[in-house]
Amino acid sequence: MESWFSRGLQKWYEKHRRDLPWRQETDPYKIWLSEIILQQTQVAQGLSYYLRFTQNYPQVQNLAEATEDQVLKDWQGLGYYSRARNLHETAKQIVNEQQGVFPGDYKSLKELKGVGDYTAAAIASFAYNQPHAVVDGNVYRLLSRLFGIETAIDSSEGKKEFFKLAEELLDCKNPARHNQAIMEFGSQWCKPIHPKCPDCIFKEKCFAFNNEIVDKLPVKAKKTKVRKRYFTYVVAVDKKKNVIINKRAANDIWKGLYEFPLIESEKEIKEKDLFKHPSFKNVAGNHFSLLHQSKSYKHVLSHQHLHAKFYVIFTKNIFKAPVQTSALNSLKNLAFPRLIEKFLNDCQLDEISYF
Ligand code: ADE
Repeated sequence: MESWFSRGLQKWYEKHRRDLPWRQETDPYKIWLSEIILQQTQVAQGLSYYLRFTQNYPQVQNLAEATEDQVLKDWQGLGYYSRARNLHETAKQIVNEQQGVFPGDYKSLKELKGVGDYTAAAIASFAYNQPHAVVDGNVYRLLSRLFGIETAIDSSEGKKEFFKLAEELLDCKNPARHNQAIMEFGSQWCKPIHPKCPDCIFKEKCFAFNNEIVDKLPVKAKKTKVRKRYFTYVVAVDKKKNVIINKRAANDIWKGLYEFPLIESEKEIKEKDLFKHPSFKNVAGNHFSLLHQSKSYKHVLSHQHLHAKFYVIFTKNIFKAPVQTSALNSLKNLAFPRLIEKFLNDCQLDEISYF
């Protein structure tokens, strides 16, 4: 039975929905692409990436055949790069082990890397119209306010409670439209700040609105702890205008992306200390000239604040293997973290005079 909630929601959706390209889709591959891109990303930012990926990789086979460098380059700037690596690995797995056929139900979708409860429910409902309720940040916010639920959304008890309620409210005859509508309502109306309460279809029923606690909900148990990190990058250029680069191997958010030799510290390293630092000497040797010292770049991630500075130096050596290098004018072909891309755009390394 369609609930009063879903009826109101779907009516609202017909009037206010944004026209987004994945909403016309029932191809599970394209829906999967859109949902992975939109994890931790606003529609306004994700849209151009969705268009790029569906154009460059129209079928799962195209994605499977691409190199990881290519996929990461197309992902550059979107952040949370494990999503891109998982996407690529999963595409290969679907092609090599499942004849290119996408899993057809919630349970087998969840076995894909990077696909959790939310994404499996989104694909199962949007592609196959199967009755699985999506519960993302928008849904937590809307349900907690409307029903006055104060259980923490990041507790296992809260997850169970919200999930159960979302399933009860789901329109099982039209789960695809219901799920699109609930997320759209959460993101466009029941927003984290400045929600449109005076014009809300649910304002008579909304517990939070009627008790003036809209800004108190949803409740989170854990405060996010932010870690500060200081990165000093050594951009070392040799006589042939080659620059030392490394491909990040550490199993972290930037795995597979390129960077310059990096010195990480607890505090910002001052210039005079940097020149004495063994890792710096390792890269620069004793004969170098400092060509440019960048401003400090701050990069905010969900659990980390990164502060980065770049020192561009010129050495009269010629870098040789095993050191990995790139010609200055080829750097644009490599995938770098957004932080480094910003520096490269500001600094225009290939226009600095080295001689
Ligand atoms: N965010 C995540 N999935 C979405 C979708 N299908 N439509 C709009 N925003 C979304």
